[in-house]
Amino acid sequence: MAQIRISGGVPLEGEVRISGAKNAVLPILVASLLGDEPSQVSNVPHLQDVTTTMELLGRMGAQLAVDERMQIEIDPREMRDFEAPYELVKTMRASILVLGPLVARFGRAIVSLPGGCAIGSRPVNLHLHGLRQLGAEVSVENGNIIARADRLKGARIVFDTVTVTGTENIMMAACLARGTSVIENAAQEPEVVDLAGFLNSMGARIEGAGTNTLVIEGVERLGGTKYSVLPDRIETGTYLVAGAMTSGRVRVTRARPRDLDAVIDKLAETGAVMTTGEDWIEIDMRGRRPKSVDITTAPYPAFPTDMQAQFTALNTIAEGTGIVTETVFENRFMHVQELQRLGADIRLKGNSAIVRGVAQLTGAPIMATDLRASAGLVLAGLVARGQTVVDRVYHIDRGYEIIEEKLGQLGARIRRVSGKQAA
Ligand code: UD1
Repeated sequence: MAQIRISGGVPLEGEVRISGAKNAVLPILVASLLGDEPSQVSNVPHLQDVTTTMELLGRMGAQLAVDERMQIEIDPREMRDFEAPYELVKTMRASILVLGPLVARFGRAIVSLPGGCAIGSRPVNLHLHGLRQLGAEVSVENGNIIARADRLKGARIVFDTVTVTGTENIMMAACLARGTSVIENAAQEPEVVDLAGFLNSMGARIEGAGTNTLVIEGVERLGGTKYSVLPDRIETGTYLVAGAMTSGRVRVTRARPRDLDAVIDKLAETGAVMTTGEDWIEIDMRGRRPKSVDITTAPYPAFPTDMQAQFTALNTIAEGTGIVTETVFENRFMHVQELQRLGADIRLKGNSAIVRGVAQLTGAPIMATDLRASAGLVLAGLVARGQTVVDRVYHIDRGYEIIEEKLGQLGARIRRVSGKQAA
């Protein structure tokens, strides 16, 4: 299995270019199934989750073509199979996103029920509830969600918890329903807004994206479109934290600063000088050690749970004590034990981690457990004295494009060692 090896201690300096957003491209690729013409999606990041999504769509009969710039064309006209099997769903929970589009466009879907995962139970009850409200018949048999409908009917859906993929699934389905749907307590994440932009460019009529109420007027058909995916705000935030932790100066380009207000505010609290332009953000620590910060995760526009592990890592070497409270996912502190192996001083209390900054971490072999946790571990490796070896790198590859190259460009001493070399 591949590993990432890091020799910590170099202040990062320079520029890094941000890729397209993983959490936007996955629903957008899936949404192309709703059209009766091909669509082209650009600014697609080269990630394992994108490959998995393409495999899923390809198995269903969609024709896919990728050019050298990772522009993907999806032609859904020969779709013949409406099933997402366990072997794919278990590697990528976001496969659940095919449920709404399949039922809306083809009248049926079989999607393996995602099981538990490393960061908590993550149920899909709200996705099923929303589809039933739209008139689909939904049952769970033999580990599969089976959904059927003639034509979906517009309805008012009130989510009792804010759910990102739940909002996306129901929004996609409602586009082809008869009549108007209203989704209340909808997720307001920029990726939901990007998906709505994609759907509207296919001919959908969605209003209110970016607020907590979506109004979707169903249409008879959707066509094809050309669309460029928004920049990844979590990748953006991760490189900024790398700059903060290493007391460096990092500029991220091709980013979208307005999506990161909560993160930028917290970085300023660490003592960083933050400057933003239209599509770039610069962090400059002026050689100083960051001050610790308290954070509480919550749905957008509050502080994102997908940046929690990175800020936990930052607090481990910051001046003072920071309290990190996770309100979105239970059990999302898998990185804590690994950080402790590097010498971090962290105490878990309920859904909070109390992190007392230490002057120095020391390198050790550690294990990635989930996507964002592993980003936190790589960041810690950048400041630990000696060598840190991060195992199970496939978690990182699901969501970060060539992380070792991008950090290497900023001066980090980091390399990937392939499975054979690592053994
Ligand atoms: C998405 C993101 C993920 C991010 C998360 C929260 C994608 C592909 N993934 O995940 O990176 O960490 O949003 O910002 O976009 N819930 C229920 N019932 C449901 C659905 C969700 O109770 O049917 C709960 C979950 O257990 C969790 C909360 O709602 O406590 C939020 O989860 P949700 O927003 O659905 O996360 P995902 O969409 O899976």
